[in-house]
Amino acid sequence: MITLTNISYAYPDAEHFALEKVNLQVDRGEILGVVGASGAGKTTLAKIIAGFIPHVDGGELTGRVEVDGADVSDLKLTDAVAKVGLVIQNPFNQISGAKYTVRDEIAFGLENLGVPRAEMAERVVAAAELLRIEHLLDSSPYDLSGGQQQLVAIASMVVLRTPVLVMDEPTSQLDPAGTRMVFDVLSSLRDAGSTIVVLEHKVELLREHCDRVAVIARETIAAVGAPREILADPRMSEWGIGETRFTLAARGAQRLGILPGDGELPVSLDEAAAFFGEAVAS
Ligand SMILES: Nc1ncnc2c1ncn2[C@@H]1O[C@H](COP(=O)(O)OP(=O)(O)OP(=O)(O)O)[C@@H](O)[C@H]1O
Ligand SMILES: [Mg+2]
Repeated sequence: MITLTNISYAYPDAEHFALEKVNLQVDRGEILGVVGASGAGKTTLAKIIAGFIPHVDGGELTGRVEVDGADVSDLKLTDAVAKVGLVIQNPFNQISGAKYTVRDEIAFGLENLGVPRAEMAERVVAAAELLRIEHLLDSSPYDLSGGQQQLVAIASMVVLRTPVLVMDEPTSQLDPAGTRMVFDVLSSLRDAGSTIVVLEHKVELLREHCDRVAVIARETIAAVGAPREILADPRMSEWGIGETRFTLAARGAQRLGILPGDGELPVSLDEAAAFFGEAVAS
């Protein structure tokens, strides 16, 4: 569904590549999680997949970005938008500034796609219900909390029903319950056939919800694999990514000599229960 071939990119006037020689494939109907330290290039990757780079940001992009059978850099931005919905990192910046209600804000992209009014109204309500913000539909987008704005930003992309969704830290403003809800929504969209790329710091959730996880480090994709393998990889700290609480606890216990030194470290609550349970029993 998404194929990046030998992508290198430098922002205008930058002396270094933000991303270099990136190769990445995302299958149809998959959730790919992408992790990386701050400044690693997650947002840059998101914008490349969505065609914002080079169309909006400029700079020099080489290589090929194929989404749903088309080369995104050959598409006009309006055509790229019909294929890929991008939820940008700061929800405040996603709000159009042109609309007085959340309802019209969520409908904004549909207006641009020329969707008939009656269908538009139905789709807006369905997207709001999915994100549990139907009670906010008549509020002003500017009267919302950061978390509510984030849910509106997500709804305004989900409503477009693009085959691909790219979410750049979609839960940065949300509490744990809101975060979990958003990941459940991503899973249900995936089950309904969407292809999703989610760039995220909250590694424990990636383990539960992603089919695969990719790591960005040193301006390129340093690893891609099953979430469990990536999160337990000893290079996590070298990549500048925080390990899960469970892995850290197990590592700390090992360091203190409390637990046997080998065996796989846990990356989830269930695995931690088994790991520490066994250690206590032995
Ligand atoms: N508009 C820009 N112009 C020049 N350099 C930029 C621009 N945006 C980002 N960069 C640089 O590109 C690199 C990658 O940035 P990017 O925003 O993609 O990282 P990120 O992984 O999303 O970070 P964060 O976790 O902080 O959101 C960084 O070195 C950053 O300084
Ligand atoms: Mg970013």
